[in-house]
Amino acid sequence: MKITGKSKVFGIIGWPVSHSLSPVFHNAAFDYLGLDCCYVPLPVEVGRLDVAIKAISALNIAGLNVTVPHKEGVIPYLSELSKEAMMIGAVNTIKVSGERLLGYNTDGIGFITSLHEAGQSVSGRSILILGAGGAARAVVFAAANGSAEKIIIANRTAGKAESLKEQVQKHFPSVKVEATGMGYDDLREVSNKVDMIINTTSLGLKQGDPSPVPREFLHRDLFVCDLIYNPPETELVRYAKDLCRGYMNGLGMLLHQGAASFKLWTDIKPPVHIMRQALQDALQQRPSSGRM
Ligand code: ATR
Repeated sequence: MKITGKSKVFGIIGWPVSHSLSPVFHNAAFDYLGLDCCYVPLPVEVGRLDVAIKAISALNIAGLNVTVPHKEGVIPYLSELSKEAMMIGAVNTIKVSGERLLGYNTDGIGFITSLHEAGQSVSGRSILILGAGGAARAVVFAAANGSAEKIIIANRTAGKAESLKEQVQKHFPSVKVEATGMGYDDLREVSNKVDMIINTTSLGLKQGDPSPVPREFLHRDLFVCDLIYNPPETELVRYAKDLCRGYMNGLGMLLHQGAASFKLWTDIKPPVHIMRQALQDALQQRPSSGRM
């Protein structure tokens, strides 16, 4: 990869960002297409977001991804938000248009595209979503927007599931939404009512973490998604392999949210096969855990 005096600079802001795989697959895509562009990690501490955002135009940065903990914090600095970013209340992609900063959220489309790749769809499905944090918000709104029949949000802190439920119902009054806790009895009660389970919690990231859903509640009618991609097989995925009609991890979502950002910035069809290969190669060499 050659950097010239004319190279367009893209990057990712977050804290920390050293673990991010986005530079690897975006640079692979630029390289493959012969674009004079590069993508760099830009670690930005919480208290320094203000100066960092104000510098984007001055530094002629062409586009950014935004990750934890800045996905919500960047919003007041942006000139415009996409419909998804507004609903989710978080931005993972900034497009620079002259002096204007446009905010998008490609996590939801990344999830839906990866699900389609696995031959699945949310349309007409009854879906149990575990978790009510940032990743859950993107998935819940994508599922509602994709005409899921019913969404049950289960979270350790049940109040957060309840508040997410209310927000989804406001935007999608025709979708049935329920909220519950994530205890043994809560999950026993709901697991038979659904045909898809999506884990958006961080349970499974650490070696030895248990499955967020006890093995005995998994069944043949279920398709299971774990947004964790490293380790590639969590305990939940291992159970699903044995007991369910299908499963996927979070690698596809990571790839496709990035591909969607790439398209927004460049207006060029992203070379997804190259990005996927770069991602897989990087993961093989990298022991640290990861989740979408
Ligand atoms: P992200 O933005 O990546 O989704 P987050 O907003 O911190 O991260 O959300 C983490 C989610 O994982 C939350 O739903 C959290 O549950 P609480 O709201 O009760 O904190 C869930 N989570 C984290 N550790 C968990 C654990 N050990 N068991 C169950 N849920 C857990």
